[in-house]
Amino acid sequence: MSMRTPQVEADPTLPPEITIYEVGARDGLQNEKAIVPAEVKAEFIRRLAAAGLATVETTSFVNPQWVPQLADASEVLDLLGDEGRGPKRPVLVPNERGLDRALEAGVGAIAIFGSATETFARKNLNRTVDESIEMFRPVVERARDCGLWVRAYVSMCFGDPWEGPVPVDQVVGVAERLMELGCDQLSLGDTIGVATSGHVSRLLDALGDRGIGVDRVGVHFHDTYGQALSNTLVALRHGVTVVDSSAGGLGGCPYAKSATGNLATEDLVWAMEGAGVRTGVDLESLLATSAWMANHLGRPSPSGVVRALTAPS
Ligand code: HMG
Ligand code: MG
Repeated sequence: MSMRTPQVEADPTLPPEITIYEVGARDGLQNEKAIVPAEVKAEFIRRLAAAGLATVETTSFVNPQWVPQLADASEVLDLLGDEGRGPKRPVLVPNERGLDRALEAGVGAIAIFGSATETFARKNLNRTVDESIEMFRPVVERARDCGLWVRAYVSMCFGDPWEGPVPVDQVVGVAERLMELGCDQLSLGDTIGVATSGHVSRLLDALGDRGIGVDRVGVHFHDTYGQALSNTLVALRHGVTVVDSSAGGLGGCPYAKSATGNLATEDLVWAMEGAGVRTGVDLESLLATSAWMANHLGRPSPSGVVRALTAPS
């Protein structure tokens, strides 16, 4: 018999409530070998929302040749109807062509995605860092004119598989330039999961020093080195309240092979429930959704919480 809920002991060092930014349908499915049918993606997104995840990133309007897994973005949004639109259903958009497609699909929120390093900018966006910021500029401007909510990701914030360590100042510089375009929120991407606690504190402090406060910052930890949850706790203790995670711990980036899944939403929800932090998520229905998706993908979830709670008793 396993415990199905943690024993609750309030942790006064954490905020009373957090916002989970669910990326399983985008970060998760962009990296699967199998192409998941659009109907299954739409059902996944509906089930995530029904489990209490208020913010769900749905898909990407990127070059379909670069990410064939999400080439059906318009179809997924068509299938979702109103459930796929609004300010809490962001989509990834790299350029004006992507924005045109996203606007045609009626989205209410977008996310641009920059890189802290030159090598990953080249590999992921086919641009230098400068060129990619110039690519984003008209995207953000037009999106804002249309009343869309805009997020900016920065990838490789804590280390890069090709360049190694990434200076904190370099990350802050790119983050500032992206936020100056007019974005509402910044998400700090630990694309390859190498961050550790002091590094997280230092980056958040350095951003705060430049006027990018924790009220505008979310954290996006991949769990490659098993550090995602501990790094999240550090960020929450610094006042961050937006945390990216993916149901079942799906995720990765096809243009950074060393990237594996994101922080599993179940692991996050378990930790928050135990600490008395509200997430709005129903763990049992989320687990059922991840198990259903794992069946479609034909492989088990890497999440410890999912494994513990779905193991035969
Ligand atoms: P490019 O090849 O330089 O694009 O790609 P281009 O501007 O030269 O255009 C080439 C052709 O592609 C043109 O068609 C365009 O119309 C078409 P042609 O005229 O030859 O017939 N095209 C498009 N078609 C549809 N939708 C579009 C689009 N754009 C161009 N949006 C580009 C440049 C940025 C588009 C490409 O590099 C790209 O799509 N990259 C995206 C890669 C990606 O999605 N990576 C994963 C997401 S990032 C991530 O996972 C990290 C994150 O989770 C945070 C973290 O963990 O750190 C967010
Ligand atoms: Mg990611």
